Amino acid sequence: MEDVRIGVVGLGRLGYVHAHNIARTIERATLTAVCDIDEELGKKTAGELGCKFHKEMEKLVEDSDVDAVCVVTPTAKHVEPVTAVVQSSKPLFCEKPLASTLEDSVKLADLIKKSGIPCQIGFMRRYDPPCARAKDLITAGAIGLPTYFCGFSRDPLPPPPWALNPATGGGLFIDMLIHDFDLARFLMGDDVVEVFADETNIVVDSQGIDRFADNVTVNMHFRNGALGHSHASVHAGYGYDMRTEVYGSEGNLSLGGLSKTDLTLSTKERGIARPFTYQTEGRIPHFMYRFAEAYQKEMEAFVHCLLDGRAPEVNEDDALAAYRVSLAATESAGTGKPVGIEYGEEKD
Ligand SMILES: NC(=O)c1ccc[n+]([C@@H]2O[C@H](COP(=O)([O-])OP(=O)(O)OC[C@H]3O[C@@H](n4cnc5c(N)ncnc54)[C@H](O)[C@@H]3O)[C@@H](O)[C@H]2O)c1
Repeated sequence: MEDVRIGVVGLGRLGYVHAHNIARTIERATLTAVCDIDEELGKKTAGELGCKFHKEMEKLVEDSDVDAVCVVTPTAKHVEPVTAVVQSSKPLFCEKPLASTLEDSVKLADLIKKSGIPCQIGFMRRYDPPCARAKDLITAGAIGLPTYFCGFSRDPLPPPPWALNPATGGGLFIDMLIHDFDLARFLMGDDVVEVFADETNIVVDSQGIDRFADNVTVNMHFRNGALGHSHASVHAGYGYDMRTEVYGSEGNLSLGGLSKTDLTLSTKERGIARPFTYQTEGRIPHFMYRFAEAYQKEMEAFVHCLLDGRAPEVNEDDALAAYRVSLAATESAGTGKPVGIEYGEEKD
């Protein structure tokens, strides 16, 4: 089969990373076109990466040199490109979250499912090597039954203002913790059915944004009775601080550190062991650096699914499920009460 020719819509912080990876590092993939409403940025990127530039998203989607489309516009601008890709019947890679409201997310997930197009969602943490290894260890029974999930997601800097605005990007529960909620589902192998969350703004200027939060916490209850907790913040000036633990009936997996990315497996038999180290550099400056390999691996996985005719491993149902947890956490922090989560068709 021919290599997969991909077009990227949106060339900001992450769109450039995906476009660059497709053009330079992903085998069996070619970057054939890019699109951005910022014409100067689009032309510059197209020139640098050696592909066509389309000012209008529809032209990129229709382009006969584009086999699959990667949507990396701001979250509130996903509906139009995703709908156009579905109508074109081309495979879709869409950044998280699928959309910026539940109504739009359900509509898009439904459209994608009915069309039958392959769709992968940008939950790259599943492809982070220590995380993928942790999942394999959990599946192999290394820590017995997972009973508790714990995640810290601390960014050294706030993301663009649209991302922390609940009206456009959803704020920390949605823009940032959606990754933790997806990881919690992935590693625990179960759904979150209730959350109790809290939020505050005590360090970073709110820029007049209603319900702007710079620190949030969430307690989670899984369907099988397991528990979880996640914390996110955007003023970790000491570096990108991303840590995850899964504690089980027979041991513990501890993933991530302040200066390197370890995966530590501790069990009664082994004591505290530290056999796996994935990065040895010093301070981790930002998510682009911490997850550089994960962004490559998720795109490789997408390309391989298309080449092999397999369905992507992380799809619109996963996007919707994690988004429901994010929305419930947002509601809980607003009301000060626990919020239960009802799943829709994605859980059939
Ligand atoms: N998976 C991750 O780790 C991760 C990290 C960052 C962002 N994201 C997601 O990626 C998406 C983009 O985030 P970002 O931080 O790169 O945003 P950004 O604001 O840095 O860049 C967005 C780009 O899209 C362009 N754009 C806006 N509207 C457009 C349109 N209608 N058509 C074409 N281009 C358009 C803008 O000009 C800009 O260049 C969001 O959904 C976000 O949640 C995911």
